[in-house]
Amino acid sequence: MNKLPRICVWHTQGDTYRDALRERLPDTPIEAINAATHETGEAVLGAPDSGPVASHGTSLIADAISSAEILLAWKVPPRTLTSMPALRWVQVTGAGVDHFLESTELSAAVTVTRSLGRFGIQISEYIIGYLLHHLIGIDTYREKQMSHEWARNNRPLLADRTVGIIGLGSLGLPTAKALTALGARVLGASHSGLAVPGIDNVFSASSWRNMLSECNALVIAAPKTVETVGMIDQSALDALPKGAIVINISRGELIDEDALLEALERGHLGAAVLDVFAAEPLPEDHPLWDQSRAWITPHIAAPSEIEVIADEFTKNYRRYVAGDSLLNEVDRRRGY
Ligand code: GLV
Repeated sequence: MNKLPRICVWHTQGDTYRDALRERLPDTPIEAINAATHETGEAVLGAPDSGPVASHGTSLIADAISSAEILLAWKVPPRTLTSMPALRWVQVTGAGVDHFLESTELSAAVTVTRSLGRFGIQISEYIIGYLLHHLIGIDTYREKQMSHEWARNNRPLLADRTVGIIGLGSLGLPTAKALTALGARVLGASHSGLAVPGIDNVFSASSWRNMLSECNALVIAAPKTVETVGMIDQSALDALPKGAIVINISRGELIDEDALLEALERGHLGAAVLDVFAAEPLPEDHPLWDQSRAWITPHIAAPSEIEVIADEFTKNYRRYVAGDSLLNEVDRRRGY
């Protein structure tokens, strides 16, 4: 007799997640569904119109979905959540939970938690890596090396720069700390605008545009919500000083990509370091690919590490079974 709540893992690496969880929770019923793509969450055997249960074709899988009380997933295709009448809790394997919160299929009774992983560290390293790469001019020296040229350029310091960070949560805050440790001046923007130690000045949802003219680099680390979609519009980009660097590790939809392209083309922006896009994968014919001031990575700034996420989930699962409040619960109304 097993009364422990059932877990369904739905992920491109579903089997590996399941095995990691079974090691940690040997008595718990855990099933995995392997998604074929990270972007849509569509299941491996999925036919476009067959629905998540039918597409797997086995009553075992159908049963795993219909009886699971808990879902661990990054993204699921349409009609998955409506096939899960027993669902009470979704833990998202990433930091951003927008895929679930935007779904009209997610019952209001379902609790959503997100993962912290080591995303804060990963994001800080990514951002500092790209900032230093640009300031040092690593590419330029590499090119000069090819032609055996001993030629010196200016050597601007991060310690003399101001970096603005939009979003001071689990991603933005560690980045702010790392930048401060390197001597950079950090400005920040959060919904409340409440002061944060180590950040020179924190702006609010209504005043954040006031910081832009001071930012040599602007980092976008805010969650995707109705309030943040499209916030980096043409006037925000124009307000940045000429030559500024924009770095987006949040969601593509926070930036007006047409306005960004235009600002790069006319040289107003020195560079855009983009890990996320409105459409992912970035379509092969998208003009950003060929924009020399754009630095593109395929949504890898903060990959979910299975062992880390499994530990985090296990801790939360034990709390769930004990009837304790869950860690990193999302305020569904607020959107993060
Ligand atoms: C990645 O985009 C995440 O939300 O963790």
